[in-house]
Amino acid sequence: MKEFVKNYKLINGVEIPKIGLGTWQIAPGKDAYNSVLMALRHGYRHIDTAAAYQNEKSVGDAIKDSGIPREEIFITTKLPAEIKDYHTAKKTFAKSLDLLGVEYVDLYLIHAPWPWNEIGKDCRAGNVEVYKAMEEFYKEGKAKAIGVSNFSPEDIENIIGNCEIMPMVNQIGYFIGLDQKSTIDYCNAKGIFIIAYSPLGIGYLLKNTVILEVAEKYSVSAAQICLRYLLQKGVAALPKSTHEERIIQNTELDFEIAKEDMLILDSVKGDPRRWS
Ligand code: A2P
Repeated sequence: MKEFVKNYKLINGVEIPKIGLGTWQIAPGKDAYNSVLMALRHGYRHIDTAAAYQNEKSVGDAIKDSGIPREEIFITTKLPAEIKDYHTAKKTFAKSLDLLGVEYVDLYLIHAPWPWNEIGKDCRAGNVEVYKAMEEFYKEGKAKAIGVSNFSPEDIENIIGNCEIMPMVNQIGYFIGLDQKSTIDYCNAKGIFIIAYSPLGIGYLLKNTVILEVAEKYSVSAAQICLRYLLQKGVAALPKSTHEERIIQNTELDFEIAKEDMLILDSVKGDPRRWS
């Protein structure tokens, strides 16, 4: 079995394939539909979407049309960051299931601890309220796992201190150059699994000369180095692409980056989204 479809196990025993197709910034309609269908045809069994991406319907249609049994595909979606009350959370989740055309999702996440236009706002009470709704989805079997995204250790402490079920996942921006050390150390200590979004630094990392040199040594692409690096860190990763050859390339990760080269990659610092 190829490395990218092998599973990690969450603390509740649910299995999650190492590589998922990220669909942030894939337009709804034919782009999202075609990308998801291509990914499934090339062996992906993990698709990540969100209500905020507005492509859940296209993702769901592609999943249905793929003919692959529902239970073989790991589907994540997310509660929009602005929603911080119980009733809207319940309604929004039901709408996501409906758009995706599924009876359950494999993972449901709070998209962020605060609305995107109010980053840093204190939403502690609201996060507890929506997480309690998510605990119900979990108990009803409509979400096989629940968790958070973009949460700091303090944001997670608030959930743990006021709710019943430990979040199983924290999905964060994690890539070469952005080590996320304090969040990852905290999550590892609690058994909260890390999923890395923007694993290629939304594409900017692919021009980095250090990464390109390592890639040359292994006769692979910079994208493959970025993804393999994250797998060797023990996290799942969600590369996004709408191009078939890249969707395929991002599954070819059956090589090992030597320890000394991992250290070289660790030494790359800074947010690549600001590199020119
Ligand atoms: P595209 O969708 O046009 O193929 P991230 O996953 O970090 O968000 O990065 C996504 C960006 O990287 C997109 O611009 C995507 O372009 C590009 N990309 C994804 N996979 C590859 C690849 N294997 N080679 C080059 N660029 C890629």
